[in-house]
Amino acid sequence: MKVLVTGGAGYIGSHVSKALALAGHEPIVYDNLEMGHKWAVQWGPLVKADLADIAVLRKSLEQVEAVIHLAGYIFVGESVKAPGKYYRNNFTNSLHLLDAMVETGVKNIVFSSTAAVYGNPREIPIPEDAPKEPINPYGESKRFIEQVMEWYSSAHGMRALSLRYFNACGADPDHEIGEMHNPETHLLPLIIYASLGLRPSIQVFGTDYNTADGTCLRDYIHVTDLARAHVSGLAYLKNVGVTTACNVGTGSGHTVRELIRAVETLGGKPVPVTEGPRRGGDAETLVARATLARDLLGWQPRHSSLDEIVSTALRWHHHAIETGLHDYRA
Ligand code: UFG
Repeated sequence: MKVLVTGGAGYIGSHVSKALALAGHEPIVYDNLEMGHKWAVQWGPLVKADLADIAVLRKSLEQVEAVIHLAGYIFVGESVKAPGKYYRNNFTNSLHLLDAMVETGVKNIVFSSTAAVYGNPREIPIPEDAPKEPINPYGESKRFIEQVMEWYSSAHGMRALSLRYFNACGADPDHEIGEMHNPETHLLPLIIYASLGLRPSIQVFGTDYNTADGTCLRDYIHVTDLARAHVSGLAYLKNVGVTTACNVGTGSGHTVRELIRAVETLGGKPVPVTEGPRRGGDAETLVARATLARDLLGWQPRHSSLDEIVSTALRWHHHAIETGLHDYRA
Protein backbone atom coordinates (compact mmCIF):
# COMPACT_ATOMS: atom_id res chain seq x y z
CA MET A 1 0.00 0.00 0.00
CA LYS A 2 1.19 3.54 -0.77
CA VAL A 3 0.83 5.62 2.38
CA LEU A 4 1.24 9.37 2.89
CA VAL A 5 3.13 9.91 6.16
CA THR A 6 2.73 13.52 7.29
CA GLY A 7 5.53 14.45 9.67
CA GLY A 8 7.47 11.47 8.34
CA ALA A 9 10.83 13.25 8.78
CA GLY A 10 10.31 13.49 12.54
CA TYR A 11 11.31 11.15 15.35
CA ILE A 12 8.20 8.96 15.40
CA GLY A 13 7.33 9.54 11.73
CA SER A 14 10.69 8.25 10.49
CA HIS A 15 10.32 5.07 12.58
CA VAL A 16 6.79 4.67 11.17
CA SER A 17 8.19 5.01 7.63
CA LYS A 18 10.76 2.32 8.31
CA ALA A 19 8.13 0.01 9.84
CA LEU A 20 5.92 0.54 6.77
CA ALA A 21 8.77 -0.32 4.42
CA LEU A 22 9.66 -3.42 6.45
CA ALA A 23 6.03 -4.55 6.16
CA GLY A 24 6.11 -4.14 2.37
CA HIS A 25 4.32 -0.78 2.14
CA GLU A 26 5.52 2.35 0.35
CA PRO A 27 5.74 5.46 2.53
CA ILE A 28 5.62 8.89 0.87
CA VAL A 29 6.82 11.41 3.44
CA TYR A 30 5.03 14.77 3.55
CA ASP A 31 6.98 17.15 5.77
CA ASN A 32 7.91 20.85 5.70
CA LEU A 33 11.17 20.05 7.55
CA GLU A 34 10.50 22.77 10.13
CA MET A 35 11.10 20.21 12.90
CA GLY A 36 11.95 17.09 10.89
CA HIS A 37 15.27 16.07 9.33
CA LYS A 38 16.02 15.28 5.71
CA TRP A 39 18.45 12.53 6.82
CA ALA A 40 15.56 10.77 8.54
CA VAL A 41 13.72 10.25 5.24
CA GLN A 42 15.25 6.97 4.04
CA TRP A 43 12.40 4.68 3.01
CA GLY A 44 10.60 6.60 0.26
CA PRO A 45 10.29 9.98 -1.42
CA LEU A 46 9.98 13.27 0.44
CA VAL A 47 7.39 15.88 -0.51
CA LYS A 48 8.76 19.00 1.19
CA ALA A 49 5.60 20.98 1.77
CA ASP A 50 3.26 22.34 4.39
CA LEU A 51 -0.21 20.97 5.10
CA ALA A 52 -1.48 24.47 4.29
CA ASP A 53 -0.25 23.99 0.67
CA ILE A 54 -3.57 22.54 -0.42
CA ALA A 55 -2.66 22.01 -4.09
CA VAL A 56 0.49 20.00 -3.23
CA LEU A 57 -1.44 18.12 -0.58
CA ARG A 58 -4.20 17.11 -3.01
CA LYS A 59 -1.67 16.00 -5.60
CA SER A 60 0.15 13.89 -2.99
CA LEU A 61 -3.09 12.32 -1.79
CA GLU A 62 -3.96 11.27 -5.34
CA GLN A 63 -1.01 8.87 -5.21
CA VAL A 64 -1.92 7.03 -1.99
CA GLU A 65 -4.47 4.68 -0.45
CA ALA A 66 -4.11 5.78 3.16
CA VAL A 67 -2.67 8.47 5.42
CA ILE A 68 -0.70 8.32 8.64
CA HIS A 69 -0.91 11.80 10.11
CA LEU A 70 1.83 12.75 12.56
CA ALA A 71 2.66 16.31 11.49
CA GLY A 72 2.20 18.81 14.29
CA TYR A 73 3.89 20.69 17.08
CA ILE A 74 4.68 18.59 20.15
CA PHE A 75 5.67 20.85 23.03
CA VAL A 76 3.10 20.89 25.80
CA GLY A 77 4.66 23.89 27.63
CA GLU A 78 4.89 25.95 24.44
CA SER A 79 1.25 25.20 23.65
CA VAL A 80 0.20 26.85 26.91
CA LYS A 81 2.19 29.99 26.06
CA ALA A 82 1.28 30.10 22.34
CA PRO A 83 -2.09 28.35 21.95
CA GLY A 84 -2.79 29.95 18.55
CA LYS A 85 0.30 28.32 17.10
CA TYR A 86 -0.98 24.91 18.21
CA TYR A 87 -4.57 25.41 17.05
CA ARG A 88 -3.38 26.70 13.65
CA ASN A 89 -0.95 23.88 12.99
CA ASN A 90 -2.30 20.89 14.90
CA PHE A 91 -5.96 21.69 14.38
CA THR A 92 -6.45 23.87 11.26
CA ASN A 93 -3.82 22.07 9.20
CA SER A 94 -5.34 18.71 10.17
CA LEU A 95 -8.69 20.02 8.91
CA HIS A 96 -7.03 20.90 5.58
CA LEU A 97 -5.77 17.35 5.42
CA LEU A 98 -9.15 15.76 6.23
CA ASP A 99 -10.91 17.95 3.65
CA ALA A 100 -8.33 17.11 1.01
CA MET A 101 -8.81 13.41 1.83
CA VAL A 102 -12.57 13.76 1.28
CA GLU A 103 -11.98 15.55 -2.03
CA THR A 104 -9.54 12.94 -3.29
CA GLY A 105 -11.45 9.92 -1.98
CA VAL A 106 -8.79 8.69 0.48
CA LYS A 107 -10.77 7.13 3.33
CA ASN A 108 -8.29 5.59 5.79
CA ILE A 109 -6.28 7.59 8.32
CA VAL A 110 -4.18 6.65 11.34
CA PHE A 111 -3.83 9.72 13.54
CA SER A 112 -1.08 10.54 15.99
CA SER A 113 -2.97 11.35 19.17
CA THR A 114 -1.69 11.49 22.73
CA ALA A 115 -2.24 10.50 26.34
CA ALA A 116 -2.53 14.27 26.89
CA VAL A 117 -6.20 14.01 25.78
CA TYR A 118 -6.95 12.54 29.22
CA GLY A 119 -5.50 15.42 31.26
CA ASN A 120 -5.17 14.37 34.91
CA PRO A 121 -6.64 10.87 34.85
CA ARG A 122 -8.88 9.67 37.67
CA GLU A 123 -8.18 6.00 36.98
CA ILE A 124 -4.85 4.19 36.47
CA PRO A 125 -4.27 2.35 34.15
CA ILE A 126 -6.23 4.72 31.90
CA PRO A 127 -8.94 3.08 29.78
CA GLU A 128 -9.81 4.60 26.40
CA ASP A 129 -13.28 5.60 27.61
CA ALA A 130 -11.88 7.66 30.52
CA PRO A 131 -13.01 11.32 30.52
CA LYS A 132 -11.16 13.47 27.98
CA GLU A 133 -10.18 16.56 29.93
CA PRO A 134 -7.01 17.92 28.32
CA ILE A 135 -5.20 20.49 30.44
CA ASN A 136 -3.25 22.19 27.66
CA PRO A 137 -3.86 23.36 24.06
CA TYR A 138 -1.60 20.60 22.71
CA GLY A 139 -3.82 17.85 24.14
CA GLU A 140 -6.96 19.77 23.28
CA SER A 141 -5.97 20.25 19.63
CA LYS A 142 -5.46 16.48 19.34
CA ARG A 143 -8.77 15.79 21.07
CA PHE A 144 -10.57 18.15 18.65
CA ILE A 145 -9.22 16.24 15.67
CA GLU A 146 -10.27 12.90 17.15
CA GLN A 147 -13.80 14.30 17.41
CA VAL A 148 -13.75 15.88 13.96
CA MET A 149 -12.72 12.53 12.50
CA GLU A 150 -15.75 10.88 14.14
CA TRP A 151 -18.03 13.37 12.37
CA TYR A 152 -16.16 12.98 9.07
CA SER A 153 -16.64 9.24 9.43
CA SER A 154 -20.41 9.54 9.65
CA ALA A 155 -20.62 12.30 7.02
CA HIS A 156 -18.03 11.10 4.50
CA GLY A 157 -17.37 7.42 5.23
CA MET A 158 -13.91 8.20 6.63
CA ARG A 159 -12.23 5.35 8.56
CA ALA A 160 -10.03 6.78 11.31
CA LEU A 161 -7.89 5.26 14.03
CA SER A 162 -6.49 7.60 16.68
CA LEU A 163 -3.45 6.18 18.44
CA ARG A 164 -3.02 7.77 21.85
CA TYR A 165 0.73 7.63 22.40
CA PHE A 166 2.15 7.36 25.88
CA ASN A 167 5.86 8.27 26.28
CA ALA A 168 7.71 7.39 23.09
CA CYS A 169 11.43 6.77 23.54
CA GLY A 170 14.34 4.58 22.45
CA ALA A 171 15.70 4.37 18.91
CA ASP A 172 15.88 2.19 15.84
CA PRO A 173 17.97 -0.92 16.72
CA ASP A 174 20.10 -0.40 13.56
CA HIS A 175 20.67 3.23 14.67
CA GLU A 176 19.63 4.51 11.25
CA ILE A 177 17.30 7.01 12.95
CA GLY A 178 16.56 8.23 16.47
CA GLU A 179 15.33 11.09 18.60
CA MET A 180 16.69 14.55 17.77
CA HIS A 181 14.54 17.47 18.83
CA ASN A 182 15.68 21.05 19.09
CA PRO A 183 14.89 22.23 21.67
CA GLU A 184 14.81 18.89 23.53
CA THR A 185 12.40 18.68 26.45
CA HIS A 186 11.96 14.92 26.84
CA LEU A 187 13.35 13.10 29.83
CA LEU A 188 15.42 10.25 28.37
CA PRO A 189 17.46 12.23 25.81
CA LEU A 190 18.11 14.92 28.43
CA ILE A 191 19.41 12.31 30.91
CA ILE A 192 21.64 10.91 28.17
CA TYR A 193 22.95 14.40 27.31
CA ALA A 194 23.80 14.91 30.99
CA SER A 195 25.57 11.55 31.08
CA LEU A 196 27.58 12.45 27.94
CA GLY A 197 28.53 15.88 29.29
CA LEU A 198 26.48 17.75 26.66
CA ARG A 199 24.64 19.52 29.49
CA PRO A 200 25.70 20.02 33.11
CA SER A 201 22.97 17.89 34.73
CA ILE A 202 19.42 16.56 34.57
CA GLN A 203 16.93 18.37 36.72
CA VAL A 204 14.27 16.19 38.34
CA PHE A 205 10.97 18.07 38.21
CA GLY A 206 9.42 17.30 41.60
CA THR A 207 10.41 14.77 44.25
CA ASP A 208 7.28 14.93 46.41
CA TYR A 209 4.86 12.95 44.26
CA ASN A 210 2.95 10.06 45.77
CA THR A 211 5.02 7.40 43.96
CA ALA A 212 7.56 4.87 45.25
CA ASP A 213 10.49 7.32 45.03
CA GLY A 214 8.61 10.63 44.91
CA THR A 215 9.13 11.26 41.16
CA CYS A 216 6.61 11.11 38.29
CA LEU A 217 5.71 7.79 36.76
CA ARG A 218 5.23 7.34 33.00
CA ASP A 219 4.46 4.52 30.58
CA TYR A 220 7.54 4.45 28.30
CA ILE A 221 6.96 2.79 24.95
CA HIS A 222 9.78 1.93 22.53
CA VAL A 223 9.44 3.93 19.33
CA THR A 224 9.78 0.82 17.12
CA ASP A 225 6.86 -0.78 19.00
CA LEU A 226 4.89 2.43 18.58
CA ALA A 227 5.77 2.51 14.88
CA ARG A 228 4.52 -1.07 14.39
CA ALA A 229 1.18 -0.11 15.94
CA HIS A 230 0.62 2.20 12.94
CA VAL A 231 1.18 -0.65 10.50
CA SER A 232 -1.28 -2.81 12.46
CA GLY A 233 -3.61 0.19 12.47
CA LEU A 234 -3.64 0.35 8.67
CA ALA A 235 -4.57 -3.34 8.52
CA TYR A 236 -7.34 -2.73 11.06
CA LEU A 237 -8.73 0.13 8.95
CA LYS A 238 -8.65 -1.96 5.80
CA ASN A 239 -10.26 -5.04 7.39
CA VAL A 240 -12.60 -3.59 10.02
CA GLY A 241 -12.56 0.15 9.50
CA VAL A 242 -14.71 1.31 12.40
CA THR A 243 -13.50 4.73 13.54
CA THR A 244 -12.09 4.52 17.07
CA ALA A 245 -9.22 5.42 19.37
CA CYS A 246 -6.69 3.22 21.08
CA ASN A 247 -3.96 3.68 23.70
CA VAL A 248 -0.44 2.75 22.71
CA GLY A 249 1.50 1.99 25.88
CA THR A 250 2.82 -0.98 27.81
CA GLY A 251 0.46 -0.98 30.78
CA SER A 252 3.22 -0.36 33.32
CA GLY A 253 5.41 2.56 34.24
CA HIS A 254 8.78 3.81 35.47
CA THR A 255 9.72 6.79 37.61
CA VAL A 256 12.14 9.57 36.64
CA ARG A 257 14.73 8.20 39.07
CA GLU A 258 14.45 4.70 37.57
CA LEU A 259 15.30 6.14 34.14
CA ILE A 260 18.30 7.98 35.54
CA ARG A 261 19.53 4.78 37.23
CA ALA A 262 19.10 2.80 33.99
CA VAL A 263 21.19 5.35 32.05
CA GLU A 264 23.89 5.21 34.74
CA THR A 265 23.97 1.42 34.67
CA LEU A 266 23.89 0.96 30.89
CA GLY A 267 26.02 4.02 30.10
CA GLY A 268 28.58 3.07 32.76
CA LYS A 269 28.83 6.66 34.05
CA PRO A 270 27.21 8.61 36.88
CA VAL A 271 24.59 11.14 35.77
CA PRO A 272 24.77 14.55 37.50
CA VAL A 273 21.31 15.24 38.98
CA THR A 274 19.70 18.35 40.46
CA GLU A 275 16.31 18.37 42.13
CA GLY A 276 13.84 21.09 41.25
CA PRO A 277 10.18 21.94 41.79
CA ARG A 278 7.31 20.24 40.01
CA ARG A 279 6.82 21.27 36.37
CA GLY A 280 3.43 22.91 35.84
CA GLY A 281 0.91 20.67 34.12
CA ASP A 282 2.64 17.35 34.90
CA ALA A 283 0.32 14.54 35.99
CA GLU A 284 1.73 12.34 38.75
CA THR A 285 1.16 9.02 36.98
CA LEU A 286 0.25 8.21 33.37
CA VAL A 287 -0.07 4.53 32.53
CA ALA A 288 -2.11 3.08 29.68
CA ARG A 289 -4.61 0.31 29.87
CA ALA A 290 -3.06 -1.51 26.95
CA THR A 291 -5.57 -4.29 26.27
CA LEU A 292 -7.57 -2.65 23.45
CA ALA A 293 -4.52 -2.37 21.17
CA ARG A 294 -3.94 -6.09 21.71
CA ASP A 295 -7.57 -7.06 21.07
CA LEU A 296 -8.28 -4.66 18.20
CA LEU A 297 -4.95 -4.46 16.40
CA GLY A 298 -3.27 -7.70 17.50
CA TRP A 299 -0.42 -5.45 18.67
CA GLN A 300 1.80 -5.93 21.70
CA PRO A 301 5.01 -4.23 22.76
CA ARG A 302 8.09 -6.37 22.11
CA HIS A 303 11.00 -4.01 22.71
CA SER A 304 9.81 -1.79 25.55
CA SER A 305 11.81 -3.11 28.49
CA LEU A 306 13.68 -0.24 30.14
CA ASP A 307 16.98 -1.92 29.21
CA GLU A 308 16.15 -2.05 25.51
CA ILE A 309 14.76 1.48 25.47
CA VAL A 310 17.81 2.96 27.18
CA SER A 311 20.44 0.90 25.36
CA THR A 312 19.04 1.69 21.88
CA ALA A 313 18.79 5.38 22.78
CA LEU A 314 22.38 5.42 24.09
CA ARG A 315 23.65 3.70 20.93
CA TRP A 316 21.78 6.19 18.74
CA HIS A 317 23.18 9.27 20.48
CA HIS A 318 26.74 7.88 20.34
CA HIS A 319 26.25 7.17 16.63
CA ALA A 320 24.77 10.63 15.98
CA ILE A 321 27.71 12.31 17.70
CA GLU A 322 30.28 10.20 15.84
CA THR A 323 28.68 10.92 12.46
CA GLY A 324 28.16 14.64 13.08
CA LEU A 325 24.34 14.44 13.00
CA HIS A 326 24.00 15.75 16.53
CA ASP A 327 22.88 19.35 16.74
CA TYR A 328 21.93 19.54 20.43
CA ARG A 329 22.30 22.96 21.99
CA ALA A 330 22.06 23.03 25.79
N1 UFG B 1 11.19 15.38 33.51
C1 UFG B 1 12.14 15.77 34.43
N2 UFG B 1 13.16 16.54 33.99
C2 UFG B 1 13.28 16.96 32.69
C3 UFG B 1 12.31 16.54 31.76
C4 UFG B 1 11.26 15.76 32.21
O1 UFG B 1 12.08 15.43 35.60
O2 UFG B 1 14.24 17.69 32.37
C5 UFG B 1 10.07 14.52 33.98
C6 UFG B 1 8.72 15.16 33.77
O3 UFG B 1 8.37 15.94 34.89
C7 UFG B 1 7.83 13.93 33.58
C8 UFG B 1 8.74 12.89 32.96
O4 UFG B 1 10.06 13.35 33.18
O5 UFG B 1 7.42 13.47 34.84
C9 UFG B 1 8.54 12.73 31.48
O6 UFG B 1 8.58 14.01 30.87
P1 UFG B 1 8.65 14.23 29.30
O7 UFG B 1 8.72 15.70 29.05
O8 UFG B 1 9.72 13.37 28.72
O9 UFG B 1 7.27 13.64 28.78
P2 UFG B 1 5.78 14.02 29.22
O10 UFG B 1 5.27 12.86 30.02
O11 UFG B 1 5.68 15.35 29.84
O12 UFG B 1 5.09 14.18 27.81
C10 UFG B 1 4.82 13.09 26.98
C11 UFG B 1 4.88 13.52 25.52
C12 UFG B 1 3.83 14.54 25.22
C13 UFG B 1 2.50 14.03 25.64
C14 UFG B 1 2.53 13.59 27.08
C15 UFG B 1 1.24 12.97 27.48
O13 UFG B 1 6.14 14.04 25.23
O14 UFG B 1 3.82 14.81 23.84
O15 UFG B 1 3.54 12.63 27.28
O16 UFG B 1 0.93 13.39 28.74
F1 UFG B 1 1.57 15.00 25.52
